[in-house]
Amino acid sequence: MDLKLETCSSRSCYRVLFLLSAFTLLLLTILPSVTSSVTYDHKALIVNGQRRILISGSIHYPRSTPEMWPDLIQKAKLGGLDAIQTYVFWNGHEPSPGKYNFEGRYDLVRFIKLVKQAGLFVHLRIGPYVCAEWNFGGIPVWLKYVPGISFRTDSRPYKVAMEGFTRKIVEMMKAEGLYESQGGPIIMSQVENEYGPMEYELGAPGRAYATWAAKMAVSLKTGVPWVMCKQDDAPDPVINSCNGFYCDYFSPNKDYKPKIWTEAWSGWYTKFGGPAPHRPVEDLAFAVAKFIQKGGSFINYYMYHGGTNFGRTAGGPFIATTYDYDAPIDEYGLLNEPKWGHLKDLHKAIKMCESALVSADPTVTSLGNYEEAHVFRSDSGACAAFLANYNPTSFATVTFNGVHYNLPPWSISILPDCKNTVFNTARVSFQTYKMIMEPVDSGFSWASYNEDTASYDDNSMTVAGLLEQINTTRDTTDYLWYTTDVNINPNEGFLRNGQYPVLTIFSAGHALHVFTNGELEGTAYGSLENPKLTFSGNVKLRAGNNKISILSIAVGMPNVGPHFETWNTGVLGPVTLNGLDEGKRDLSWQKWSYKIGLKGEALQLHSLSGSSSVEWGSLIDQKQPLTWYKTTFDAPAGNEPLALDMVSMGKGQIWINGQSIGRHWPAYKASGSCGECSYSGTYSDKKCQRYCGDPSQRWYHVPRSWLRPTGNLLVLFEEWGGNPNWISLVRRKVGSVCAHINEWQPIMRTIKTYGSLEVAQRPKAHLMCDPGQKISAIKFASFGTPQGECGSYQEGSCHAFHSYDIFEKNCIGKQWCVVMVTPEVFGGDPCPHVMKKVAVEAVCT
Ligand code: GAL
Repeated sequence: MDLKLETCSSRSCYRVLFLLSAFTLLLLTILPSVTSSVTYDHKALIVNGQRRILISGSIHYPRSTPEMWPDLIQKAKLGGLDAIQTYVFWNGHEPSPGKYNFEGRYDLVRFIKLVKQAGLFVHLRIGPYVCAEWNFGGIPVWLKYVPGISFRTDSRPYKVAMEGFTRKIVEMMKAEGLYESQGGPIIMSQVENEYGPMEYELGAPGRAYATWAAKMAVSLKTGVPWVMCKQDDAPDPVINSCNGFYCDYFSPNKDYKPKIWTEAWSGWYTKFGGPAPHRPVEDLAFAVAKFIQKGGSFINYYMYHGGTNFGRTAGGPFIATTYDYDAPIDEYGLLNEPKWGHLKDLHKAIKMCESALVSADPTVTSLGNYEEAHVFRSDSGACAAFLANYNPTSFATVTFNGVHYNLPPWSISILPDCKNTVFNTARVSFQTYKMIMEPVDSGFSWASYNEDTASYDDNSMTVAGLLEQINTTRDTTDYLWYTTDVNINPNEGFLRNGQYPVLTIFSAGHALHVFTNGELEGTAYGSLENPKLTFSGNVKLRAGNNKISILSIAVGMPNVGPHFETWNTGVLGPVTLNGLDEGKRDLSWQKWSYKIGLKGEALQLHSLSGSSSVEWGSLIDQKQPLTWYKTTFDAPAGNEPLALDMVSMGKGQIWINGQSIGRHWPAYKASGSCGECSYSGTYSDKKCQRYCGDPSQRWYHVPRSWLRPTGNLLVLFEEWGGNPNWISLVRRKVGSVCAHINEWQPIMRTIKTYGSLEVAQRPKAHLMCDPGQKISAIKFASFGTPQGECGSYQEGSCHAFHSYDIFEKNCIGKQWCVVMVTPEVFGGDPCPHVMKKVAVEAVCT
């Protein structure tokens, strides 16, 4: 039909014209949400017509503050990332049905817009079940109380709620124009999370739910692909992806889908009672290079910045407040070196190979028993090679295209032109830091307020028997008091012989304190592996009526497991008394009074207004359990991140200016094995752990933006009793700088090949202080076989006598210095035929 304006004279003609233009307009408005500007094939995601190798990193927006976001995103960009991945945290956004929160740390749109401004893409993992060591896996607790509901299965009420929230987020993103198809940064989304194993357990209803979830997601027409991670049977066109410490073995379920690694675990989470996990960057880089050499094209570090579980957002139970994760950017937003720097070098090397990687499948050639070459050649002549040595203990010399290459154990070299090595995963050339927590001032001056141990009042309810905790509190608080009366006949034998009866309490978790007539009798707690606990101890009962009060404490709701919504918390019994004349008395079925939460919580003692509603006393008994403490302080000068050193305290919660910085539990010491840590060999979260025997978490991040210049209110609630006089505010800063460099290290840039021998430029140890600072002392220096980490190096059996002299001569008084790592510089070879390295630690002032 050829409709020209001048030919249109009739009414109907104008109507047709009007309808046509309205239709075109409509098409234009909806088109961006239905056309795909991001597609994929078996090689890669295709963004704006281009196949891409994409490096992404997880930063969860509520685990830092909006004031930190721009800097974190910038550091991610500088680290060579193309994309930021985040989950969407349903229970943070919809704390009660239909009441939404997209403010402050939950301002998702602001976060995504900042990522866009930085020129990065977003992978939005809506879930809305997210796992993530987050309270209840991100699902609002109120959903548990919708009649007939069953989570993450073919349950109508669950599907209605889940679809409702997913749709809301998608619509919100569309309204803001945030999908790539609309010119925004979101290139991919995720529905559900690691549902495959769950589906396997649930059988038919699980399968029906997974199919429904995929269909529902696709029907939302975002214009970008959806992934389902750990979901081998993800229905088309949804891409199934891999999560783990290694994912090179993984293949998607159709050969036209790209190989995607949604969670490359950069470290692991800390739990109360566990040590701090550490994953050596040499192994992480090895895993990533191995994935890419096997045709992988999208990799996301989980986490790139872990951050903090503020408030009561930690899941678990027993997940610590820190979610540092040993990620490339630490909890406080500082670079975790050499992890950040070494990965940056890796990303640069991978990007140099991009055109070959996206054009061709690799040809694999064996170069020895443990050695392989993966070569990518494109039609246009690009060639990139990855040379791998899988042997965890031995160096290898391989010959590739007639040239010899030296490969450290458990490492991969990257040759973007199939000739020159620009990167080896085991050769770290980045400076590292020893971070210190430096006290800011002389301490705080505390006032205290005793929490009520008379745990029943007008607000308590009394019923026969023991109640499940979450059903009672609806997770509005960690605390639930269970109180009962115990009548003791004046003729009881124990009153004469002093052998107090034994009270035994079985609890589904997670911790409890027992009081008899207001006196603390003891404490018991479980662990992440076994949240259940048993208390058993003598109780000082007297003749007549006694009150036994149990303060039962939840430490985060479960975030993973089959039907975790049905798991119990609290004192479910039996509760028995042994050693009475009658033998055993079962208290489980008698009358119990319940009080939800603490008196101090009801009074909002943590808030600016609530804290002045009671009379605070001076600090007298420092070990008093169930005590509130408060103080005020001025914001310290400078911009280094801040933390509270809680080493002298037991367990409880902390607030600054009314905002919760989370649960503290320094009394829970890390048990586990913290032995030697070799980067080579298969990594697991039990390998390379740190701080065994110390508190699992001693320092608690205080975001700078939560402080005013003066008069900041710090309130804490302490359950066990601790000495607050030892609490201090600390600055996190660089204590010393270190370099740890191997001899004969090929470096990026200048590598020449002579005949068939690869000659690497001599390696150098670089030390650099921040601008305005100079190297004032060399704390440690050894050329030979030194051991250990920055801050705790030790000489090995081989040590060049002049090690200190050389660094002192070249570095003291300078902002930066460079020393060649070669025997001649150190006055000769201290141990010929042994692979040597330099370790040096310098102080900047
Ligand atoms: C994964 C899960 C993540 C997180 C991780 C461990 O299985 O998908 O959400 O829980 O484990 O940190």
